[in-house]
Amino acid sequence: MPSTSSNSARLSELLDAEEERYLASHPRSLALAGQAAKSLLNGVPMSWMTHWATPFPLFMQRANGARLWDVDGNEYIDFCLGDTGAMAGHSPPRTAEAISRRAATGITAILPTEDAVVVGDELTRRFGLLKWQIAMTATDANRYALRLARHVTRRPKVLVFNWCYHGTVDETLAVLDSGRVTRRPGVVGPTQPAGETTRVVEFNDVDALERELAHGDVACVIAEPALTNIGIILPDPGFHDALRELTRASGTLLLIDETHTICAGPGGMTAELGLEPDMLVVGKAIGGGMPAAAYGMTEAVARVAGEAVEEPELNISGIGGTLSGNALAVAAVRATLSHTLRAEDFERMIPLAERWEAGVRDAIEECGLQWSVTRLGCRAEYWPASGDRTAAEAAAMADDEATSYLHLHALNRNVLLTPFHNMALMCPDTTADDVDRHTSVFREALGNVASLR
Ligand SMILES: Cc1ncc(COP(=O)(O)O)c(C=O)c1O
Repeated sequence: MPSTSSNSARLSELLDAEEERYLASHPRSLALAGQAAKSLLNGVPMSWMTHWATPFPLFMQRANGARLWDVDGNEYIDFCLGDTGAMAGHSPPRTAEAISRRAATGITAILPTEDAVVVGDELTRRFGLLKWQIAMTATDANRYALRLARHVTRRPKVLVFNWCYHGTVDETLAVLDSGRVTRRPGVVGPTQPAGETTRVVEFNDVDALERELAHGDVACVIAEPALTNIGIILPDPGFHDALRELTRASGTLLLIDETHTICAGPGGMTAELGLEPDMLVVGKAIGGGMPAAAYGMTEAVARVAGEAVEEPELNISGIGGTLSGNALAVAAVRATLSHTLRAEDFERMIPLAERWEAGVRDAIEECGLQWSVTRLGCRAEYWPASGDRTAAEAAAMADDEATSYLHLHALNRNVLLTPFHNMALMCPDTTADDVDRHTSVFREALGNVASLR
């Protein structure tokens, strides 16, 4: 139901009351925010840190497992988990040990270590692809993979799904606006018109995919196996089969980005659904919090890619970076994949996400709102729209004011949700009590929102 000006004013009052409460309980964060504003752009080291619902940034003091403490001594149940970077829990002990061991014995040398061999084998075991490279971030990995795809196919364009997110990769920051490809709203300093580099289709729209691939100029479709950055939108039955068939038939490479969807299991949705991508990217969680990502490829792609990056003119292929694959990051990946994010960890985490989903669904039903909750493995997210929606519809239905209130209300009651999502992620240390605490806080806040409608 659209908000009227009077219920919007009452929602603002609710939000004001939560801001007052936050102000009163975070004096040390307030002081640090004041100091930080002097030297840091917008008072933070990275702009997304201003995107929380708080009136000024929450300064973290420490975090372990599913818990986080701020500089004022407040303790939180953390369902944000660094927006997936800490999906293995904050500072998983074996990863922390491996990092400190490696930190004391050589952090970076532009040389491989034995850990890299173990990591390559483990990535192949989990995702099936045969050859791997390590990057610092999933953004970097996607950028390198797309460059390789253009090199392999000698085609210029990339195809993405509407409202996808694959990091700050220019070609992917494009959306559909009344059927036209345009730059995603808010992108700063774009290089060239989005339509010159990118084709965009709605996720699950097989006809549109076929039509766009028929142009014969797409090097690569880059796809999350389920969209996770506009709420969660699951693939329709048969969609992945069609995607694979159409990409093969049109000589287009398929790059699956498992950076978020590794929440589905140790091999992400690629292993769960038996997908057969030509390339695959996975970032964030695999380093246990250390910046690290990996991109893998089939033997066929590797044959062309290997030559290209080994013999570049003047040694510059446009792929790789000084600190990519550094010994410290690779040690963290090895420890994280060896001791967390294993099948037995997902067996604990996924039922907790089911419990979170059920609690949220019950609360939505009780409140009589047309909202929905969707789960994928150990990740779940609510959205102020019905479950049966396209990404374009999800974007149009986003209700920033209501969701900001829900986030700040939860934070003031010691529960952290992911900013710019309404998402909760379970880590191996999350408990059923943590989930139930979220449910009760959510029910209270959603009841307040519903009473305004
Ligand atoms: C699916 C997906 N791929 C890639 C990225 C980029 O990750 P990073 O910001 O760590 O480079 C993100 C970030 O949210 C993502 O959701």
